[in-house]
Amino acid sequence: MRRIAIVNMKGGVGKTTTAVQIAAGFAARGRRVLLVDADPQGNIGHVLGLTAPRTVRDLMLGECGPGDAIVREARPGLDVITATPAAFALESQLAGTIQRETLLARRLRDVRGVDVLVFDTSPAMNLLTYNALLAANELVLPVGMDSLALMGARQTLDGVNEIRGLWPERTLSLAAVVPTAVSAQTHASRAVLEALEADPEMGARLFRQGIRQCIDLTYAAAACQTIWEYAPRSRAAEDYTALLEWLEGRAPAREVREDDEEEAPSVVQRSPA
Ligand SMILES: Nc1ncnc2c1ncn2[C@@H]1O[C@H](COP(=O)(O)OP(=O)(O)OP(=O)(O)O)[C@@H](O)[C@H]1O
Ligand SMILES: [Mg+2]
Repeated sequence: MRRIAIVNMKGGVGKTTTAVQIAAGFAARGRRVLLVDADPQGNIGHVLGLTAPRTVRDLMLGECGPGDAIVREARPGLDVITATPAAFALESQLAGTIQRETLLARRLRDVRGVDVLVFDTSPAMNLLTYNALLAANELVLPVGMDSLALMGARQTLDGVNEIRGLWPERTLSLAAVVPTAVSAQTHASRAVLEALEADPEMGARLFRQGIRQCIDLTYAAAACQTIWEYAPRSRAAEDYTALLEWLEGRAPAREVREDDEEEAPSVVQRSPA
């Protein structure tokens, strides 16, 4: 099973948009997909026009199992676990829980029949983001066309390296760095693309053509539709199709070990030294 987390600590760079289009795109290609909203903003439910009685919060707290939290067939082949702002309280509700960074991975361990798991995350390295990263084995890093988004991408990779250091047995590879809202003729876009190319880690995984700026993505979200439903002939649909093909060519070579480590250190809300 592929497990892809969409991350960037910078807000508004196209994480949710990319999560939805990738998840719906894989489903349209015949994969069984589970899209998990690990962001208390709850944008996934909004963008896909879904509400659910059980959410990622209930799953994390053990108040329900995955079977109850999953909205089946939100689109053909696409199941979804939504989030709501109630998940903001998880940080304090789980404050004393042991191994709380791997709760989501453990709760989802018994989910069967899924080919691709996609996690949308919030613009912060919080408990839910750690949980998504530790439930994933691949990262997709959308980067908007400004220097702050680039800074957010670097900070995100620093956080990921910290996770790799603390959980060395976990495989968490950078699958794609995805320039978003690219406008080739602007200086800002060119500067960010050049910086991404020049970065040894991000340059090696750069989806060079990027996702061009396309207002249809915003209109599609407002209409609670994916880009393939709203504007299948738009350049955004074309670009996300290319990204899906690129990702399919970069599937991890082997399945990672699924069992959880017993000695997981706590990295969120560490007590002051
Ligand atoms: N390629 C694009 N062209 C134009 N607009 C885009 C593009 N990608 C995303 N957007 C728009 O940018 C805004 C932010 O996108 P999105 O919500 O996906 O970002 P995000 O990283 O998930 O934000 P947050 O960090 O708050 O979760 C939305 O209005 C979305 O429609
Ligand atoms: Mg988002």
